[in-house]
Amino acid sequence: MMKKRIVIKLSGSVFGETANKKSLMKYAKMLKSIGRKMQIVVVAGGGYIARYYINLARELGVDEASLDELGIEVSRLNAQLFVYALGDAAYPHIPTNLHEIVVALETGKIVVAGGLHPGQSTNATSAQIAEKINANTFINATDVVGIYNADPNKYKNAKLFRSIGIRELQNMIVHESTMAGAYDLMDIVALKVIERSKLTTRVVKSDPSVIKRAAYGHNVGTIIIT
Ligand code: UTP
Repeated sequence: MMKKRIVIKLSGSVFGETANKKSLMKYAKMLKSIGRKMQIVVVAGGGYIARYYINLARELGVDEASLDELGIEVSRLNAQLFVYALGDAAYPHIPTNLHEIVVALETGKIVVAGGLHPGQSTNATSAQIAEKINANTFINATDVVGIYNADPNKYKNAKLFRSIGIRELQNMIVHESTMAGAYDLMDIVALKVIERSKLTTRVVKSDPSVIKRAAYGHNVGTIIIT
């Protein structure tokens, strides 16, 4: 029987300034354990290092498309770092397009990708990958517990949704920034792909035990209803 396929986006913060050997190995161990039961594509975010480069280059007057490309490069660096953490369990090459991901999965190894196309976030990329490989689930691991009605880092009484309809979410994010380095929790490309392919999508806290529970179908974080 074909193994269930799953796409897990890891926030760039997993590889950022607070990362260390212990934290990276915790994620690697958890993914190797899930990987025995499912085929996994991990997508690494760019995080603060991407934003650092993008902001500096923007000051130099660089165009938005090139800034996106900088962000993609950094997400691929994070992906490469994570390949080292996974060791033999990982496919060694960072794919640069959807076709390469399909081919890489044939090896049965954990595939780790960064960004693919300018003009979107790694969340959109993850949704596109999930669509292409017919994944059962897309798990978006973030630095917050799930989707709130306002930014929980700014508003103390922001309310957490256990589930939210795709249309409602689209209405919420329509006014958000679409500048390089500033795509938010979910960008519009991600939401359109989730909607058209009815992807089971869950936004959860980036914590190895929470991600594992989400991978096994437990009701953690926020589920997006399509
Ligand atoms: P991310 O999507 O990781 O942004 O890519 P982020 O805001 O850092 O997300 P977290 O915090 O890690 O979860 C960084 C930047 O790289 C470009 C975008 O400019 C994005 O903001 N990018 C990334 C693309 O243009 N295309 C992609 O497929 C991925």
